[in-house]
Amino acid sequence: MGFIFKQVRAEGGCLSFIIGDQVSHRACIIDPRADQQDIYEEFLAARKLTATLVFDTHTHADHYSGSHLVAQNLGARIAMSASTKSARPDLKLVDGQIIEVGGGLAVRALATSGHTPDSMTFLVQGDWGQTAFTGDTLFIGGSGRTDFPGADPSAQFDSIHGKLGALPDSSWVLPGHDYSDLLFSTIGHEKRTNPHWLISSRDEFVRVKNAEALDSPGVLTQVVSFNLDAKPRSFPRGGAMTMCATVAVKPQSKVERLDAANFRQLLAEQRAKGAIFIDVREPEEFARFRIADTVNIPTSELLMHWKELKSASAVYFLCDRGSRSLVAAESVQRLGLDKVGDLAAGTSGWVATGNAVVK
Ligand SMILES: [Fe+2]
Repeated sequence: MGFIFKQVRAEGGCLSFIIGDQVSHRACIIDPRADQQDIYEEFLAARKLTATLVFDTHTHADHYSGSHLVAQNLGARIAMSASTKSARPDLKLVDGQIIEVGGGLAVRALATSGHTPDSMTFLVQGDWGQTAFTGDTLFIGGSGRTDFPGADPSAQFDSIHGKLGALPDSSWVLPGHDYSDLLFSTIGHEKRTNPHWLISSRDEFVRVKNAEALDSPGVLTQVVSFNLDAKPRSFPRGGAMTMCATVAVKPQSKVERLDAANFRQLLAEQRAKGAIFIDVREPEEFARFRIADTVNIPTSELLMHWKELKSASAVYFLCDRGSRSLVAAESVQRLGLDKVGDLAAGTSGWVATGNAVVK
């Protein structure tokens, strides 16, 4: 079951996902944005994938959905909840429905209303385990706001405790937004640590959600009507966007930030003792040059290699400037890996201090 996976992060922590099957070369996109079509198309072309399906987890209110553009430009069919008011979907999904994308790639829809009446979680089974694309139902360390028209905090309580709570603890959680610079979580970790999941009383959950103070800029109505329209003509660039949740408190980072000399020393001494050194840049960047004895796993695909990471004596990350590597390191540390570090200045700092690379 060889899948290709890409997490595309936009400004403001908005996340889209591309999942492709390496055998059939078919792919689907979850929650594409209207302003990121070029990124999706470039990635699909580079990996020789054809997007045949596009899923929206719900009618978004915070950004302009690009599902219609993926459909128009690439010929994909749009799939959304049967309870949506959007005119876009070709396929209207009901709870439990399974949609075949191609090869071994299939998407199972779970109705998880609350944030909106049409909110769904999409499940994908890979050989690395199950992944739940939770949209704005469940975030890492929080949950989607429930003050938009049609939202229902009590339904969201059921969706989290009932639908998502029934998934295996090992299921990966990939939300529609991340406001904390974390790549992924698991159902088990959210059950144990997510302050919203830890509220076991429905009444208390509803009280907490109703008390959330979130801005609703005027652009909201415009965004929603765009996303309900089957063939909207254009979308305005910029403008104040809406947050879909309160920002979760990020735990204190315990990542060991290394300079080039320390990284070089660890690479020489610790690799033989079971440590792995992961370059999280994209394959194209890694192919241009790399630090010897490092392996390439882009940030999007780290969850597919969780077993290797977990069995390593230590995990050290690097990228070009130390920002992607820190996100990777903090994400895996949050899920329980304790010996984690990164090359703080990245490959640019490595080269600037006279260290060799392989071309
Ligand atoms: Fe949303």
